[in-house]
Amino acid sequence: MLKLSGINVSYGSYLALQDVNIEVNKGEFVVLLGANGAGKSTLFRTISGLLKVTSGSVEFKGQKTNQLPSFKVVELGISQCLEGRALFSHMPVKQNLLLGAYVRRHDKEGIKKSLAMVYELFPALKDKENALAGSLSGGQQQMAAIGRALMSDPELLLLDEPSIGLAPIVVQQVFDAVKIVNEAGKTVLLAEQNAHLALKVSHRGYVLENGRVVMEGRSDMLAGNEDVKKAYIGVSD
Ligand SMILES: Nc1ncnc2c1ncn2[C@@H]1O[C@H](COP(=O)(O)OP(=O)(O)O)[C@@H](O)[C@H]1O
Ligand SMILES: [Mg+2]
Repeated sequence: MLKLSGINVSYGSYLALQDVNIEVNKGEFVVLLGANGAGKSTLFRTISGLLKVTSGSVEFKGQKTNQLPSFKVVELGISQCLEGRALFSHMPVKQNLLLGAYVRRHDKEGIKKSLAMVYELFPALKDKENALAGSLSGGQQQMAAIGRALMSDPELLLLDEPSIGLAPIVVQQVFDAVKIVNEAGKTVLLAEQNAHLALKVSHRGYVLENGRVVMEGRSDMLAGNEDVKKAYIGVSD
């Protein structure tokens, strides 16, 4: 479904991604592991069309997307939940969610259904639908950000470090919800430093270090790998 081939991306003279090859198949839940500064957000911004590649190609459903503006990429069915959530804090939760729909669709009934689905997934958002997004807890804001990304009814959902700043129990809730979304048919690419939980919910993973993919494989294999354990899970685990 998504195929990155030989991607190089630079910020000025700094090469942030080097010869990155990543594939995500339809229905998969893939995790992109990497420490701070590894290039995860750069990769996501490249997929979304916010950054252009220096060389290499991004293909989605067989179509090259790296020359397309980002709104076209959303129209094709890729929705990104940005790192740091980026909600409109002075707008109610419900309006934030609906904004996610309008970028791609105008069918009232379908949007209503999606909203009901998001509320079913995250009941806390239904309770707070009229509250200002900025008044929510960190976990609820993350749920709202994921909900907003789902409102465009994407085929591929990109989640950039949803666990940042959240208590482990809330991370678990968020990841469980993402797993449900995946099982309901959406393809997921998740960027994370929090390898322990991410490898439990995902099927496959890539490890990114200094802009390069240094390891890839099934999530259970990566979870058992000594290097991954040391770098991303911690020795106590
Ligand atoms: N807008 C930018 N301009 C210059 N360098 C950047 C910019 N954004 C990120 N970088 C650099 O690119 C590298 C990868 O960053 P990023 O993709 O944000 O990593 P991650 O999301 O894995 O933490 C880092 O060294 C970072 O300092
Ligand atoms: Mg990042």
